[in-house]
Amino acid sequence: MTSLEIEGDATQLAQDSVLAADVQGFTPRTTAGQAKAVLLTGATGFLGVFLLRELLAADLTVYCLVRADSEEAGRDRLRANLETYDLTDQIAMERIEIVPGDITLPRFGLAEDDYQVLSGQVDAVYHTAAKVNFLTPYKWLRKSTVSGIHEVLRFAGASRAALHHISTTGVFSGQTGDNTTPRGEHHVTGPAVGMPLGYTKSKWVAEQLLAQARDRGVPVTVHRPTQVWGDSRSGACQRNDFVWRFVIGSIQAGVYPRNFRLKMNLVPVDYVCAAVVAVSRQDAAVGGIFHQIGPAAIDSVAIRDFIAAAGYDLKEVSVIKWLKAISADVSNAMFPLIRTTMLMEQEEQPPFSDEITRGFLGGTGPDGTDVTCPAIDAALFATYAEFFVRRGFLPAP
Ligand SMILES: NC(=O)c1ccc[n+]([C@@H]2O[C@H](COP(=O)([O-])OP(=O)(O)OC[C@H]3O[C@@H](n4cnc5c(N)ncnc54)[C@H](OP(=O)(O)O)[C@@H]3O)[C@@H](O)[C@H]2O)c1
Repeated sequence: MTSLEIEGDATQLAQDSVLAADVQGFTPRTTAGQAKAVLLTGATGFLGVFLLRELLAADLTVYCLVRADSEEAGRDRLRANLETYDLTDQIAMERIEIVPGDITLPRFGLAEDDYQVLSGQVDAVYHTAAKVNFLTPYKWLRKSTVSGIHEVLRFAGASRAALHHISTTGVFSGQTGDNTTPRGEHHVTGPAVGMPLGYTKSKWVAEQLLAQARDRGVPVTVHRPTQVWGDSRSGACQRNDFVWRFVIGSIQAGVYPRNFRLKMNLVPVDYVCAAVVAVSRQDAAVGGIFHQIGPAAIDSVAIRDFIAAAGYDLKEVSVIKWLKAISADVSNAMFPLIRTTMLMEQEEQPPFSDEITRGFLGGTGPDGTDVTCPAIDAALFATYAEFFVRRGFLPAP
């Protein structure tokens, strides 16, 4: 990027981070623990559908805002997503209300009457919907981010509903120099201009808008997971994040990069969703920021050992040879991310801390146990790999 481009980017990010004047504070109509009906965005995605399972387990009525032409088409899309993640038997479709809509459209694209009726029923909003794509530059994400956050905030205001927003620890990316201080819930985020991905810039802008809404008195809670991996029981997982593409691509190519600088905090989706819901049901959490992180970061040596323990025999080669092997096959899962590979290798992820969050999770699990995060070890990795083999995304070892 040239210095002129960086300057232009900084101006754009600053302009996009200004909250519209019509978003005003309000007192939520129920306490956090008394919420009965919630609106969920993003249930046709990965994290959203597991959050749906958790919200239903908490006995909430869930309205799912789904991009579709009709309620029936939206229901079909959700049903297909349940199948994708092995959740068909765990979620009762009849307990779910489908609302066809789009977060980027005024009133979500709903008719005025429907919008009024919906806002009269919802006590809390869980907002997971976002364009999640590491390859898309910020300029193509900005409109949907800015309008999406504004529309969600307007709906929360119309409903007097608390808003629970899913962000990411990626809002700390782009910080250089200090790679040892853990980034806790109140650590300063940004600067967005230094972030290598448009996606993380857009999540940072969303947080800036929400922080202003919070200052105006909107009950906003922000949840920041690290890289989310699959369900720790079934292994069901999405396969589009950088690390899974890295794993699947390496297995497809039969080679693994020696001394690859990759260190990532990974966290199972079932823990993320259990923690989000447990925290969101507590009045003291309203207005807070929370982190959902795995117990320890995982590096490329650990991933190599997990792959070997799952039964895949890969030849270790130099990063250059590995890149050559990936580039030689357009169908390789890692092929589209070759450019991002170089960016990720340059970027050392700082450690994160979740001390405040863990303080809210004591005794919130089944039978009064603590909600805790399982470590991703060789056994859990093998569970994920088995899911991918069942789905045909990985060859059997
Ligand atoms: N996956 C991770 O590792 C991770 C880590 C940290 C934070 N997060 C955050 O978690 C959230 C979900 O991520 P994900 O991995 O589950 O992504 P995903 O699988 O791509 O799901 C994104 C969801 O957002 C919906 N959506 C996008 N634009 C929309 C719009 N204009 N109106 C209505 N719905 C829209 C999508 O609907 P369609 O099906 O119609 O496209 C889909 O349901 C995101 O906010 C992401 O930033 C994810």
